Amino acid sequence: MTRAAAAGTVNPDTQSRSANRERRMYDTPEPGSESKAVHRRDLLRWLAASPLLTAFAGCDLGLVERAMAQEAPARSLDDLVQSAEQALDVFDLERVAAQTVPTAHWGYIKTGVDGEGTQANNRASLERIYIRARRLVDVSNLDMRVSIFGREWPTPLMIAPAGSQGAFHRDGELATARAAAARNHLQTLSSVSSTGVEAVNEARGEPVWYQLYAPRHWNATVALVNRVREAGCPVIVLTVDLLGGSNRLTLERYRRIDDRNCESCHRSGGRADPVKPMYEGLPQGPPDSGGPTMTWDYVHRLRDITDQRIVVKGLVTREDAELALEHGVDGIWVSNHGGRAEGSGRATIDALPEIAETVAGEVPIIVDGGFRRGTDIFKGLARGATAVAIGRPYLWGLGAFGQAGVERVLEILIEELRITMGAVGTPSLADIGPHSIGVD
Ligand SMILES: Cc1cc2nc3c(=O)[nH]c(=O)nc-3n(C[C@H](O)[C@H](O)[C@H](O)COP(=O)(O)O)c2cc1C
Repeated sequence: MTRAAAAGTVNPDTQSRSANRERRMYDTPEPGSESKAVHRRDLLRWLAASPLLTAFAGCDLGLVERAMAQEAPARSLDDLVQSAEQALDVFDLERVAAQTVPTAHWGYIKTGVDGEGTQANNRASLERIYIRARRLVDVSNLDMRVSIFGREWPTPLMIAPAGSQGAFHRDGELATARAAAARNHLQTLSSVSSTGVEAVNEARGEPVWYQLYAPRHWNATVALVNRVREAGCPVIVLTVDLLGGSNRLTLERYRRIDDRNCESCHRSGGRADPVKPMYEGLPQGPPDSGGPTMTWDYVHRLRDITDQRIVVKGLVTREDAELALEHGVDGIWVSNHGGRAEGSGRATIDALPEIAETVAGEVPIIVDGGFRRGTDIFKGLARGATAVAIGRPYLWGLGAFGQAGVERVLEILIEELRITMGAVGTPSLADIGPHSIGVD
């Protein structure tokens, strides 16, 4: 039993994963026990192959085989994927990352809020939707191209911003950027990245979109916006779903069972992040993110200081979509932060139709939250998204195998989308619409 389980502080999911991790990281076989098992297996193999044995009257070879089978080591899905290419779906990479990412950092990826209902519903609602397959359509030329702000992308799959990627793999955002470049996907860099925007742009080969957590002090906002504009970032993604705080219990549980010494990387005994590269040298020091006083007025002020496109991330209602249009935003990102913001219980795929109806094609809509398969991306497009973004899946790939893992995630999802579009008779994104899906 793990330390935390003994203290009664973990749920069964947490407990089994952490027990597994602890077994892998710390358990060593009892001295001699493994070698004894190997010797027994070798003896049985030798007996089965031996002409002496077949010559021996009455010998039951089946018995020997059965004994060998009993001696075979237990197979585990954990050992199935030894390299990125071996992953069959994104969950294969999740299983690997669960073993490779340090415990508290794994908790940071995994966490939702409260009892994780919103995070679970992101998935559950996607799974409730079915696809209405059409037949006898020529799908020999599948076209996934999408245009956003005048720039054409080969597919509608985007990389959502995620902070502190150096905590999942030593190459952090640089590995993600190289994977995005290799497979040509749109990437948004988090405000709280482990690497500054200039180096990420270089690794990506072109400027990324920049996600902004509005600093409380206006002159910090101005300094940040100036920096990313000078770096060439064409779009500011203003995240507005964490202004009231978030109750991340899973993160706290994983922190408690992580007994590494975190002080070399984190201040305050592991409870606070180091100063992030994007916050270095800002007036008034590193900003706190957003704050409860922020209103639509902030969007106005942002508009006044930059000609970059402004996308607001974290909207989930028709009313806010209307306000966003009134305030002149260039794009809407439907998101509940992957179930890490409020515990509303509402899936983003269910919020999407009312927003798509309100926006009526005026500005592009991006959606994220629980998208794990090509069929999920198809459903997001069918409900009115221009593009679909992923968070955790590419972080699983990153944690498991660095750049190769992120690339594999992108490859898997696009291949799945390609198969889906072909199988259900929708040769281009324009053929996918509300008529393509249903709910029981
Ligand atoms: C570990 C982690 C860190 C994140 N950091 C940020 C961030 O810094 N800024 C932001 O706007 N969203 C952040 N998000 C939210 C993602 O951008 C995205 O909305 C969410 O992950 C999508 O849901 P999914 O993980 O189910 O795909 C983060 C998500 C995760 C899992």
